[in-house]
Amino acid sequence: MKRTRNIVMALALGATLSLAACGSDDGGGSSSSDGKIGVILPDTKSSVRWESADRPALEAAFEDAGVDYTIQNAEGDAEKMATIADGMIADGVTVLAIVNLDSESGAAIQEKAASQGVKTIDYDRLTLGGSADYYVSFDNTVVGELQGQGLADCLGDEAANVIYLNGSPTDNNATLFSAGAHSVLDPISSYTKVGEQAVPDWDNEQAVTIFEQLYTQAGGDVQGVYAANDGLAGSVISILEKNGQAGQVPVTGQDATVEGLQNILAGTQCMTVYKSAKLEAGALADAAIALVNGDEADTNGTTEDAEGDREVPSVLLTPESITKDSVKKVVDDGAVKAEDLCAGDFAQFCEEAGIS
Ligand code: BGC
Repeated sequence: MKRTRNIVMALALGATLSLAACGSDDGGGSSSSDGKIGVILPDTKSSVRWESADRPALEAAFEDAGVDYTIQNAEGDAEKMATIADGMIADGVTVLAIVNLDSESGAAIQEKAASQGVKTIDYDRLTLGGSADYYVSFDNTVVGELQGQGLADCLGDEAANVIYLNGSPTDNNATLFSAGAHSVLDPISSYTKVGEQAVPDWDNEQAVTIFEQLYTQAGGDVQGVYAANDGLAGSVISILEKNGQAGQVPVTGQDATVEGLQNILAGTQCMTVYKSAKLEAGALADAAIALVNGDEADTNGTTEDAEGDREVPSVLLTPESITKDSVKKVVDDGAVKAEDLCAGDFAQFCEEAGIS
């Protein structure tokens, strides 16, 4: 059944390819295959990863493959993402990858693309009720489990009141991260949840206010914080600092950003989750190039889209937990530069951690 659909799509794609074969653009390198890949990143504020890690990794992957590409950023505006998508389609992209800002707007973009014979890929975030041909991401439930386990390792067996600061309610990943973390922490009977809230659009500034409220409601009697990514962790740490508790209360994170890793080295953050942009961008490039060539992409499983009642063929990579002992690994892997991590006051921590 799937095969028939793929053949039909491949024929539609073939027609589009012959139209698009001429276009190269700002982003593209020398092209060895017909067709062009468009990628739309979500924003610059929910995490520094999109511009500092994903964009350069995607550029490198597409350049290596010699395929034409264009990468744009929707700046947190779903309408802008739709406009960018229209522009890319008009410009002849044959494969469009998006990191959706919410499932509804993502699904609309994908439907429009499909109606013009353009294949689509969900990059990092699954579009619920969408029609992406593939989903390329990390195993996001495992990300949450690593965060939960990381917090438990930092807290130990002692009784602890825990606050949960989740990611955006419109991001399916945030749901999976939280579920994964709860699956580890809820069964530990010495821990008590004393507050939980989602942060709209992963907004770091709103996170400060939200966390301060939760912290105050709990009377400051908080021993651990689940923060869904490094940006939110930074917001939490600022309030803990204000209350003289930074470094006393373990906080989780995600993305292995420079800020998150610095906080880990300084002892104010307990862990982060490293998701190699090089691997994820490489997997996206592989899948996109297969589609450009009218082939099927290699996958390692499927992901359930309960809203769309379908299984989306997926490439799911394995995330890694990072603590003080393993920060060096992220540097050795080339994901952050020692000179950035070890700037200013952090030089001494880097030295202690053997990072140079
Ligand atoms: C990504 C995280 C990121 C967050 C905010 C999630 O969908 O998986 O890596 O921190 O969005 O951008």
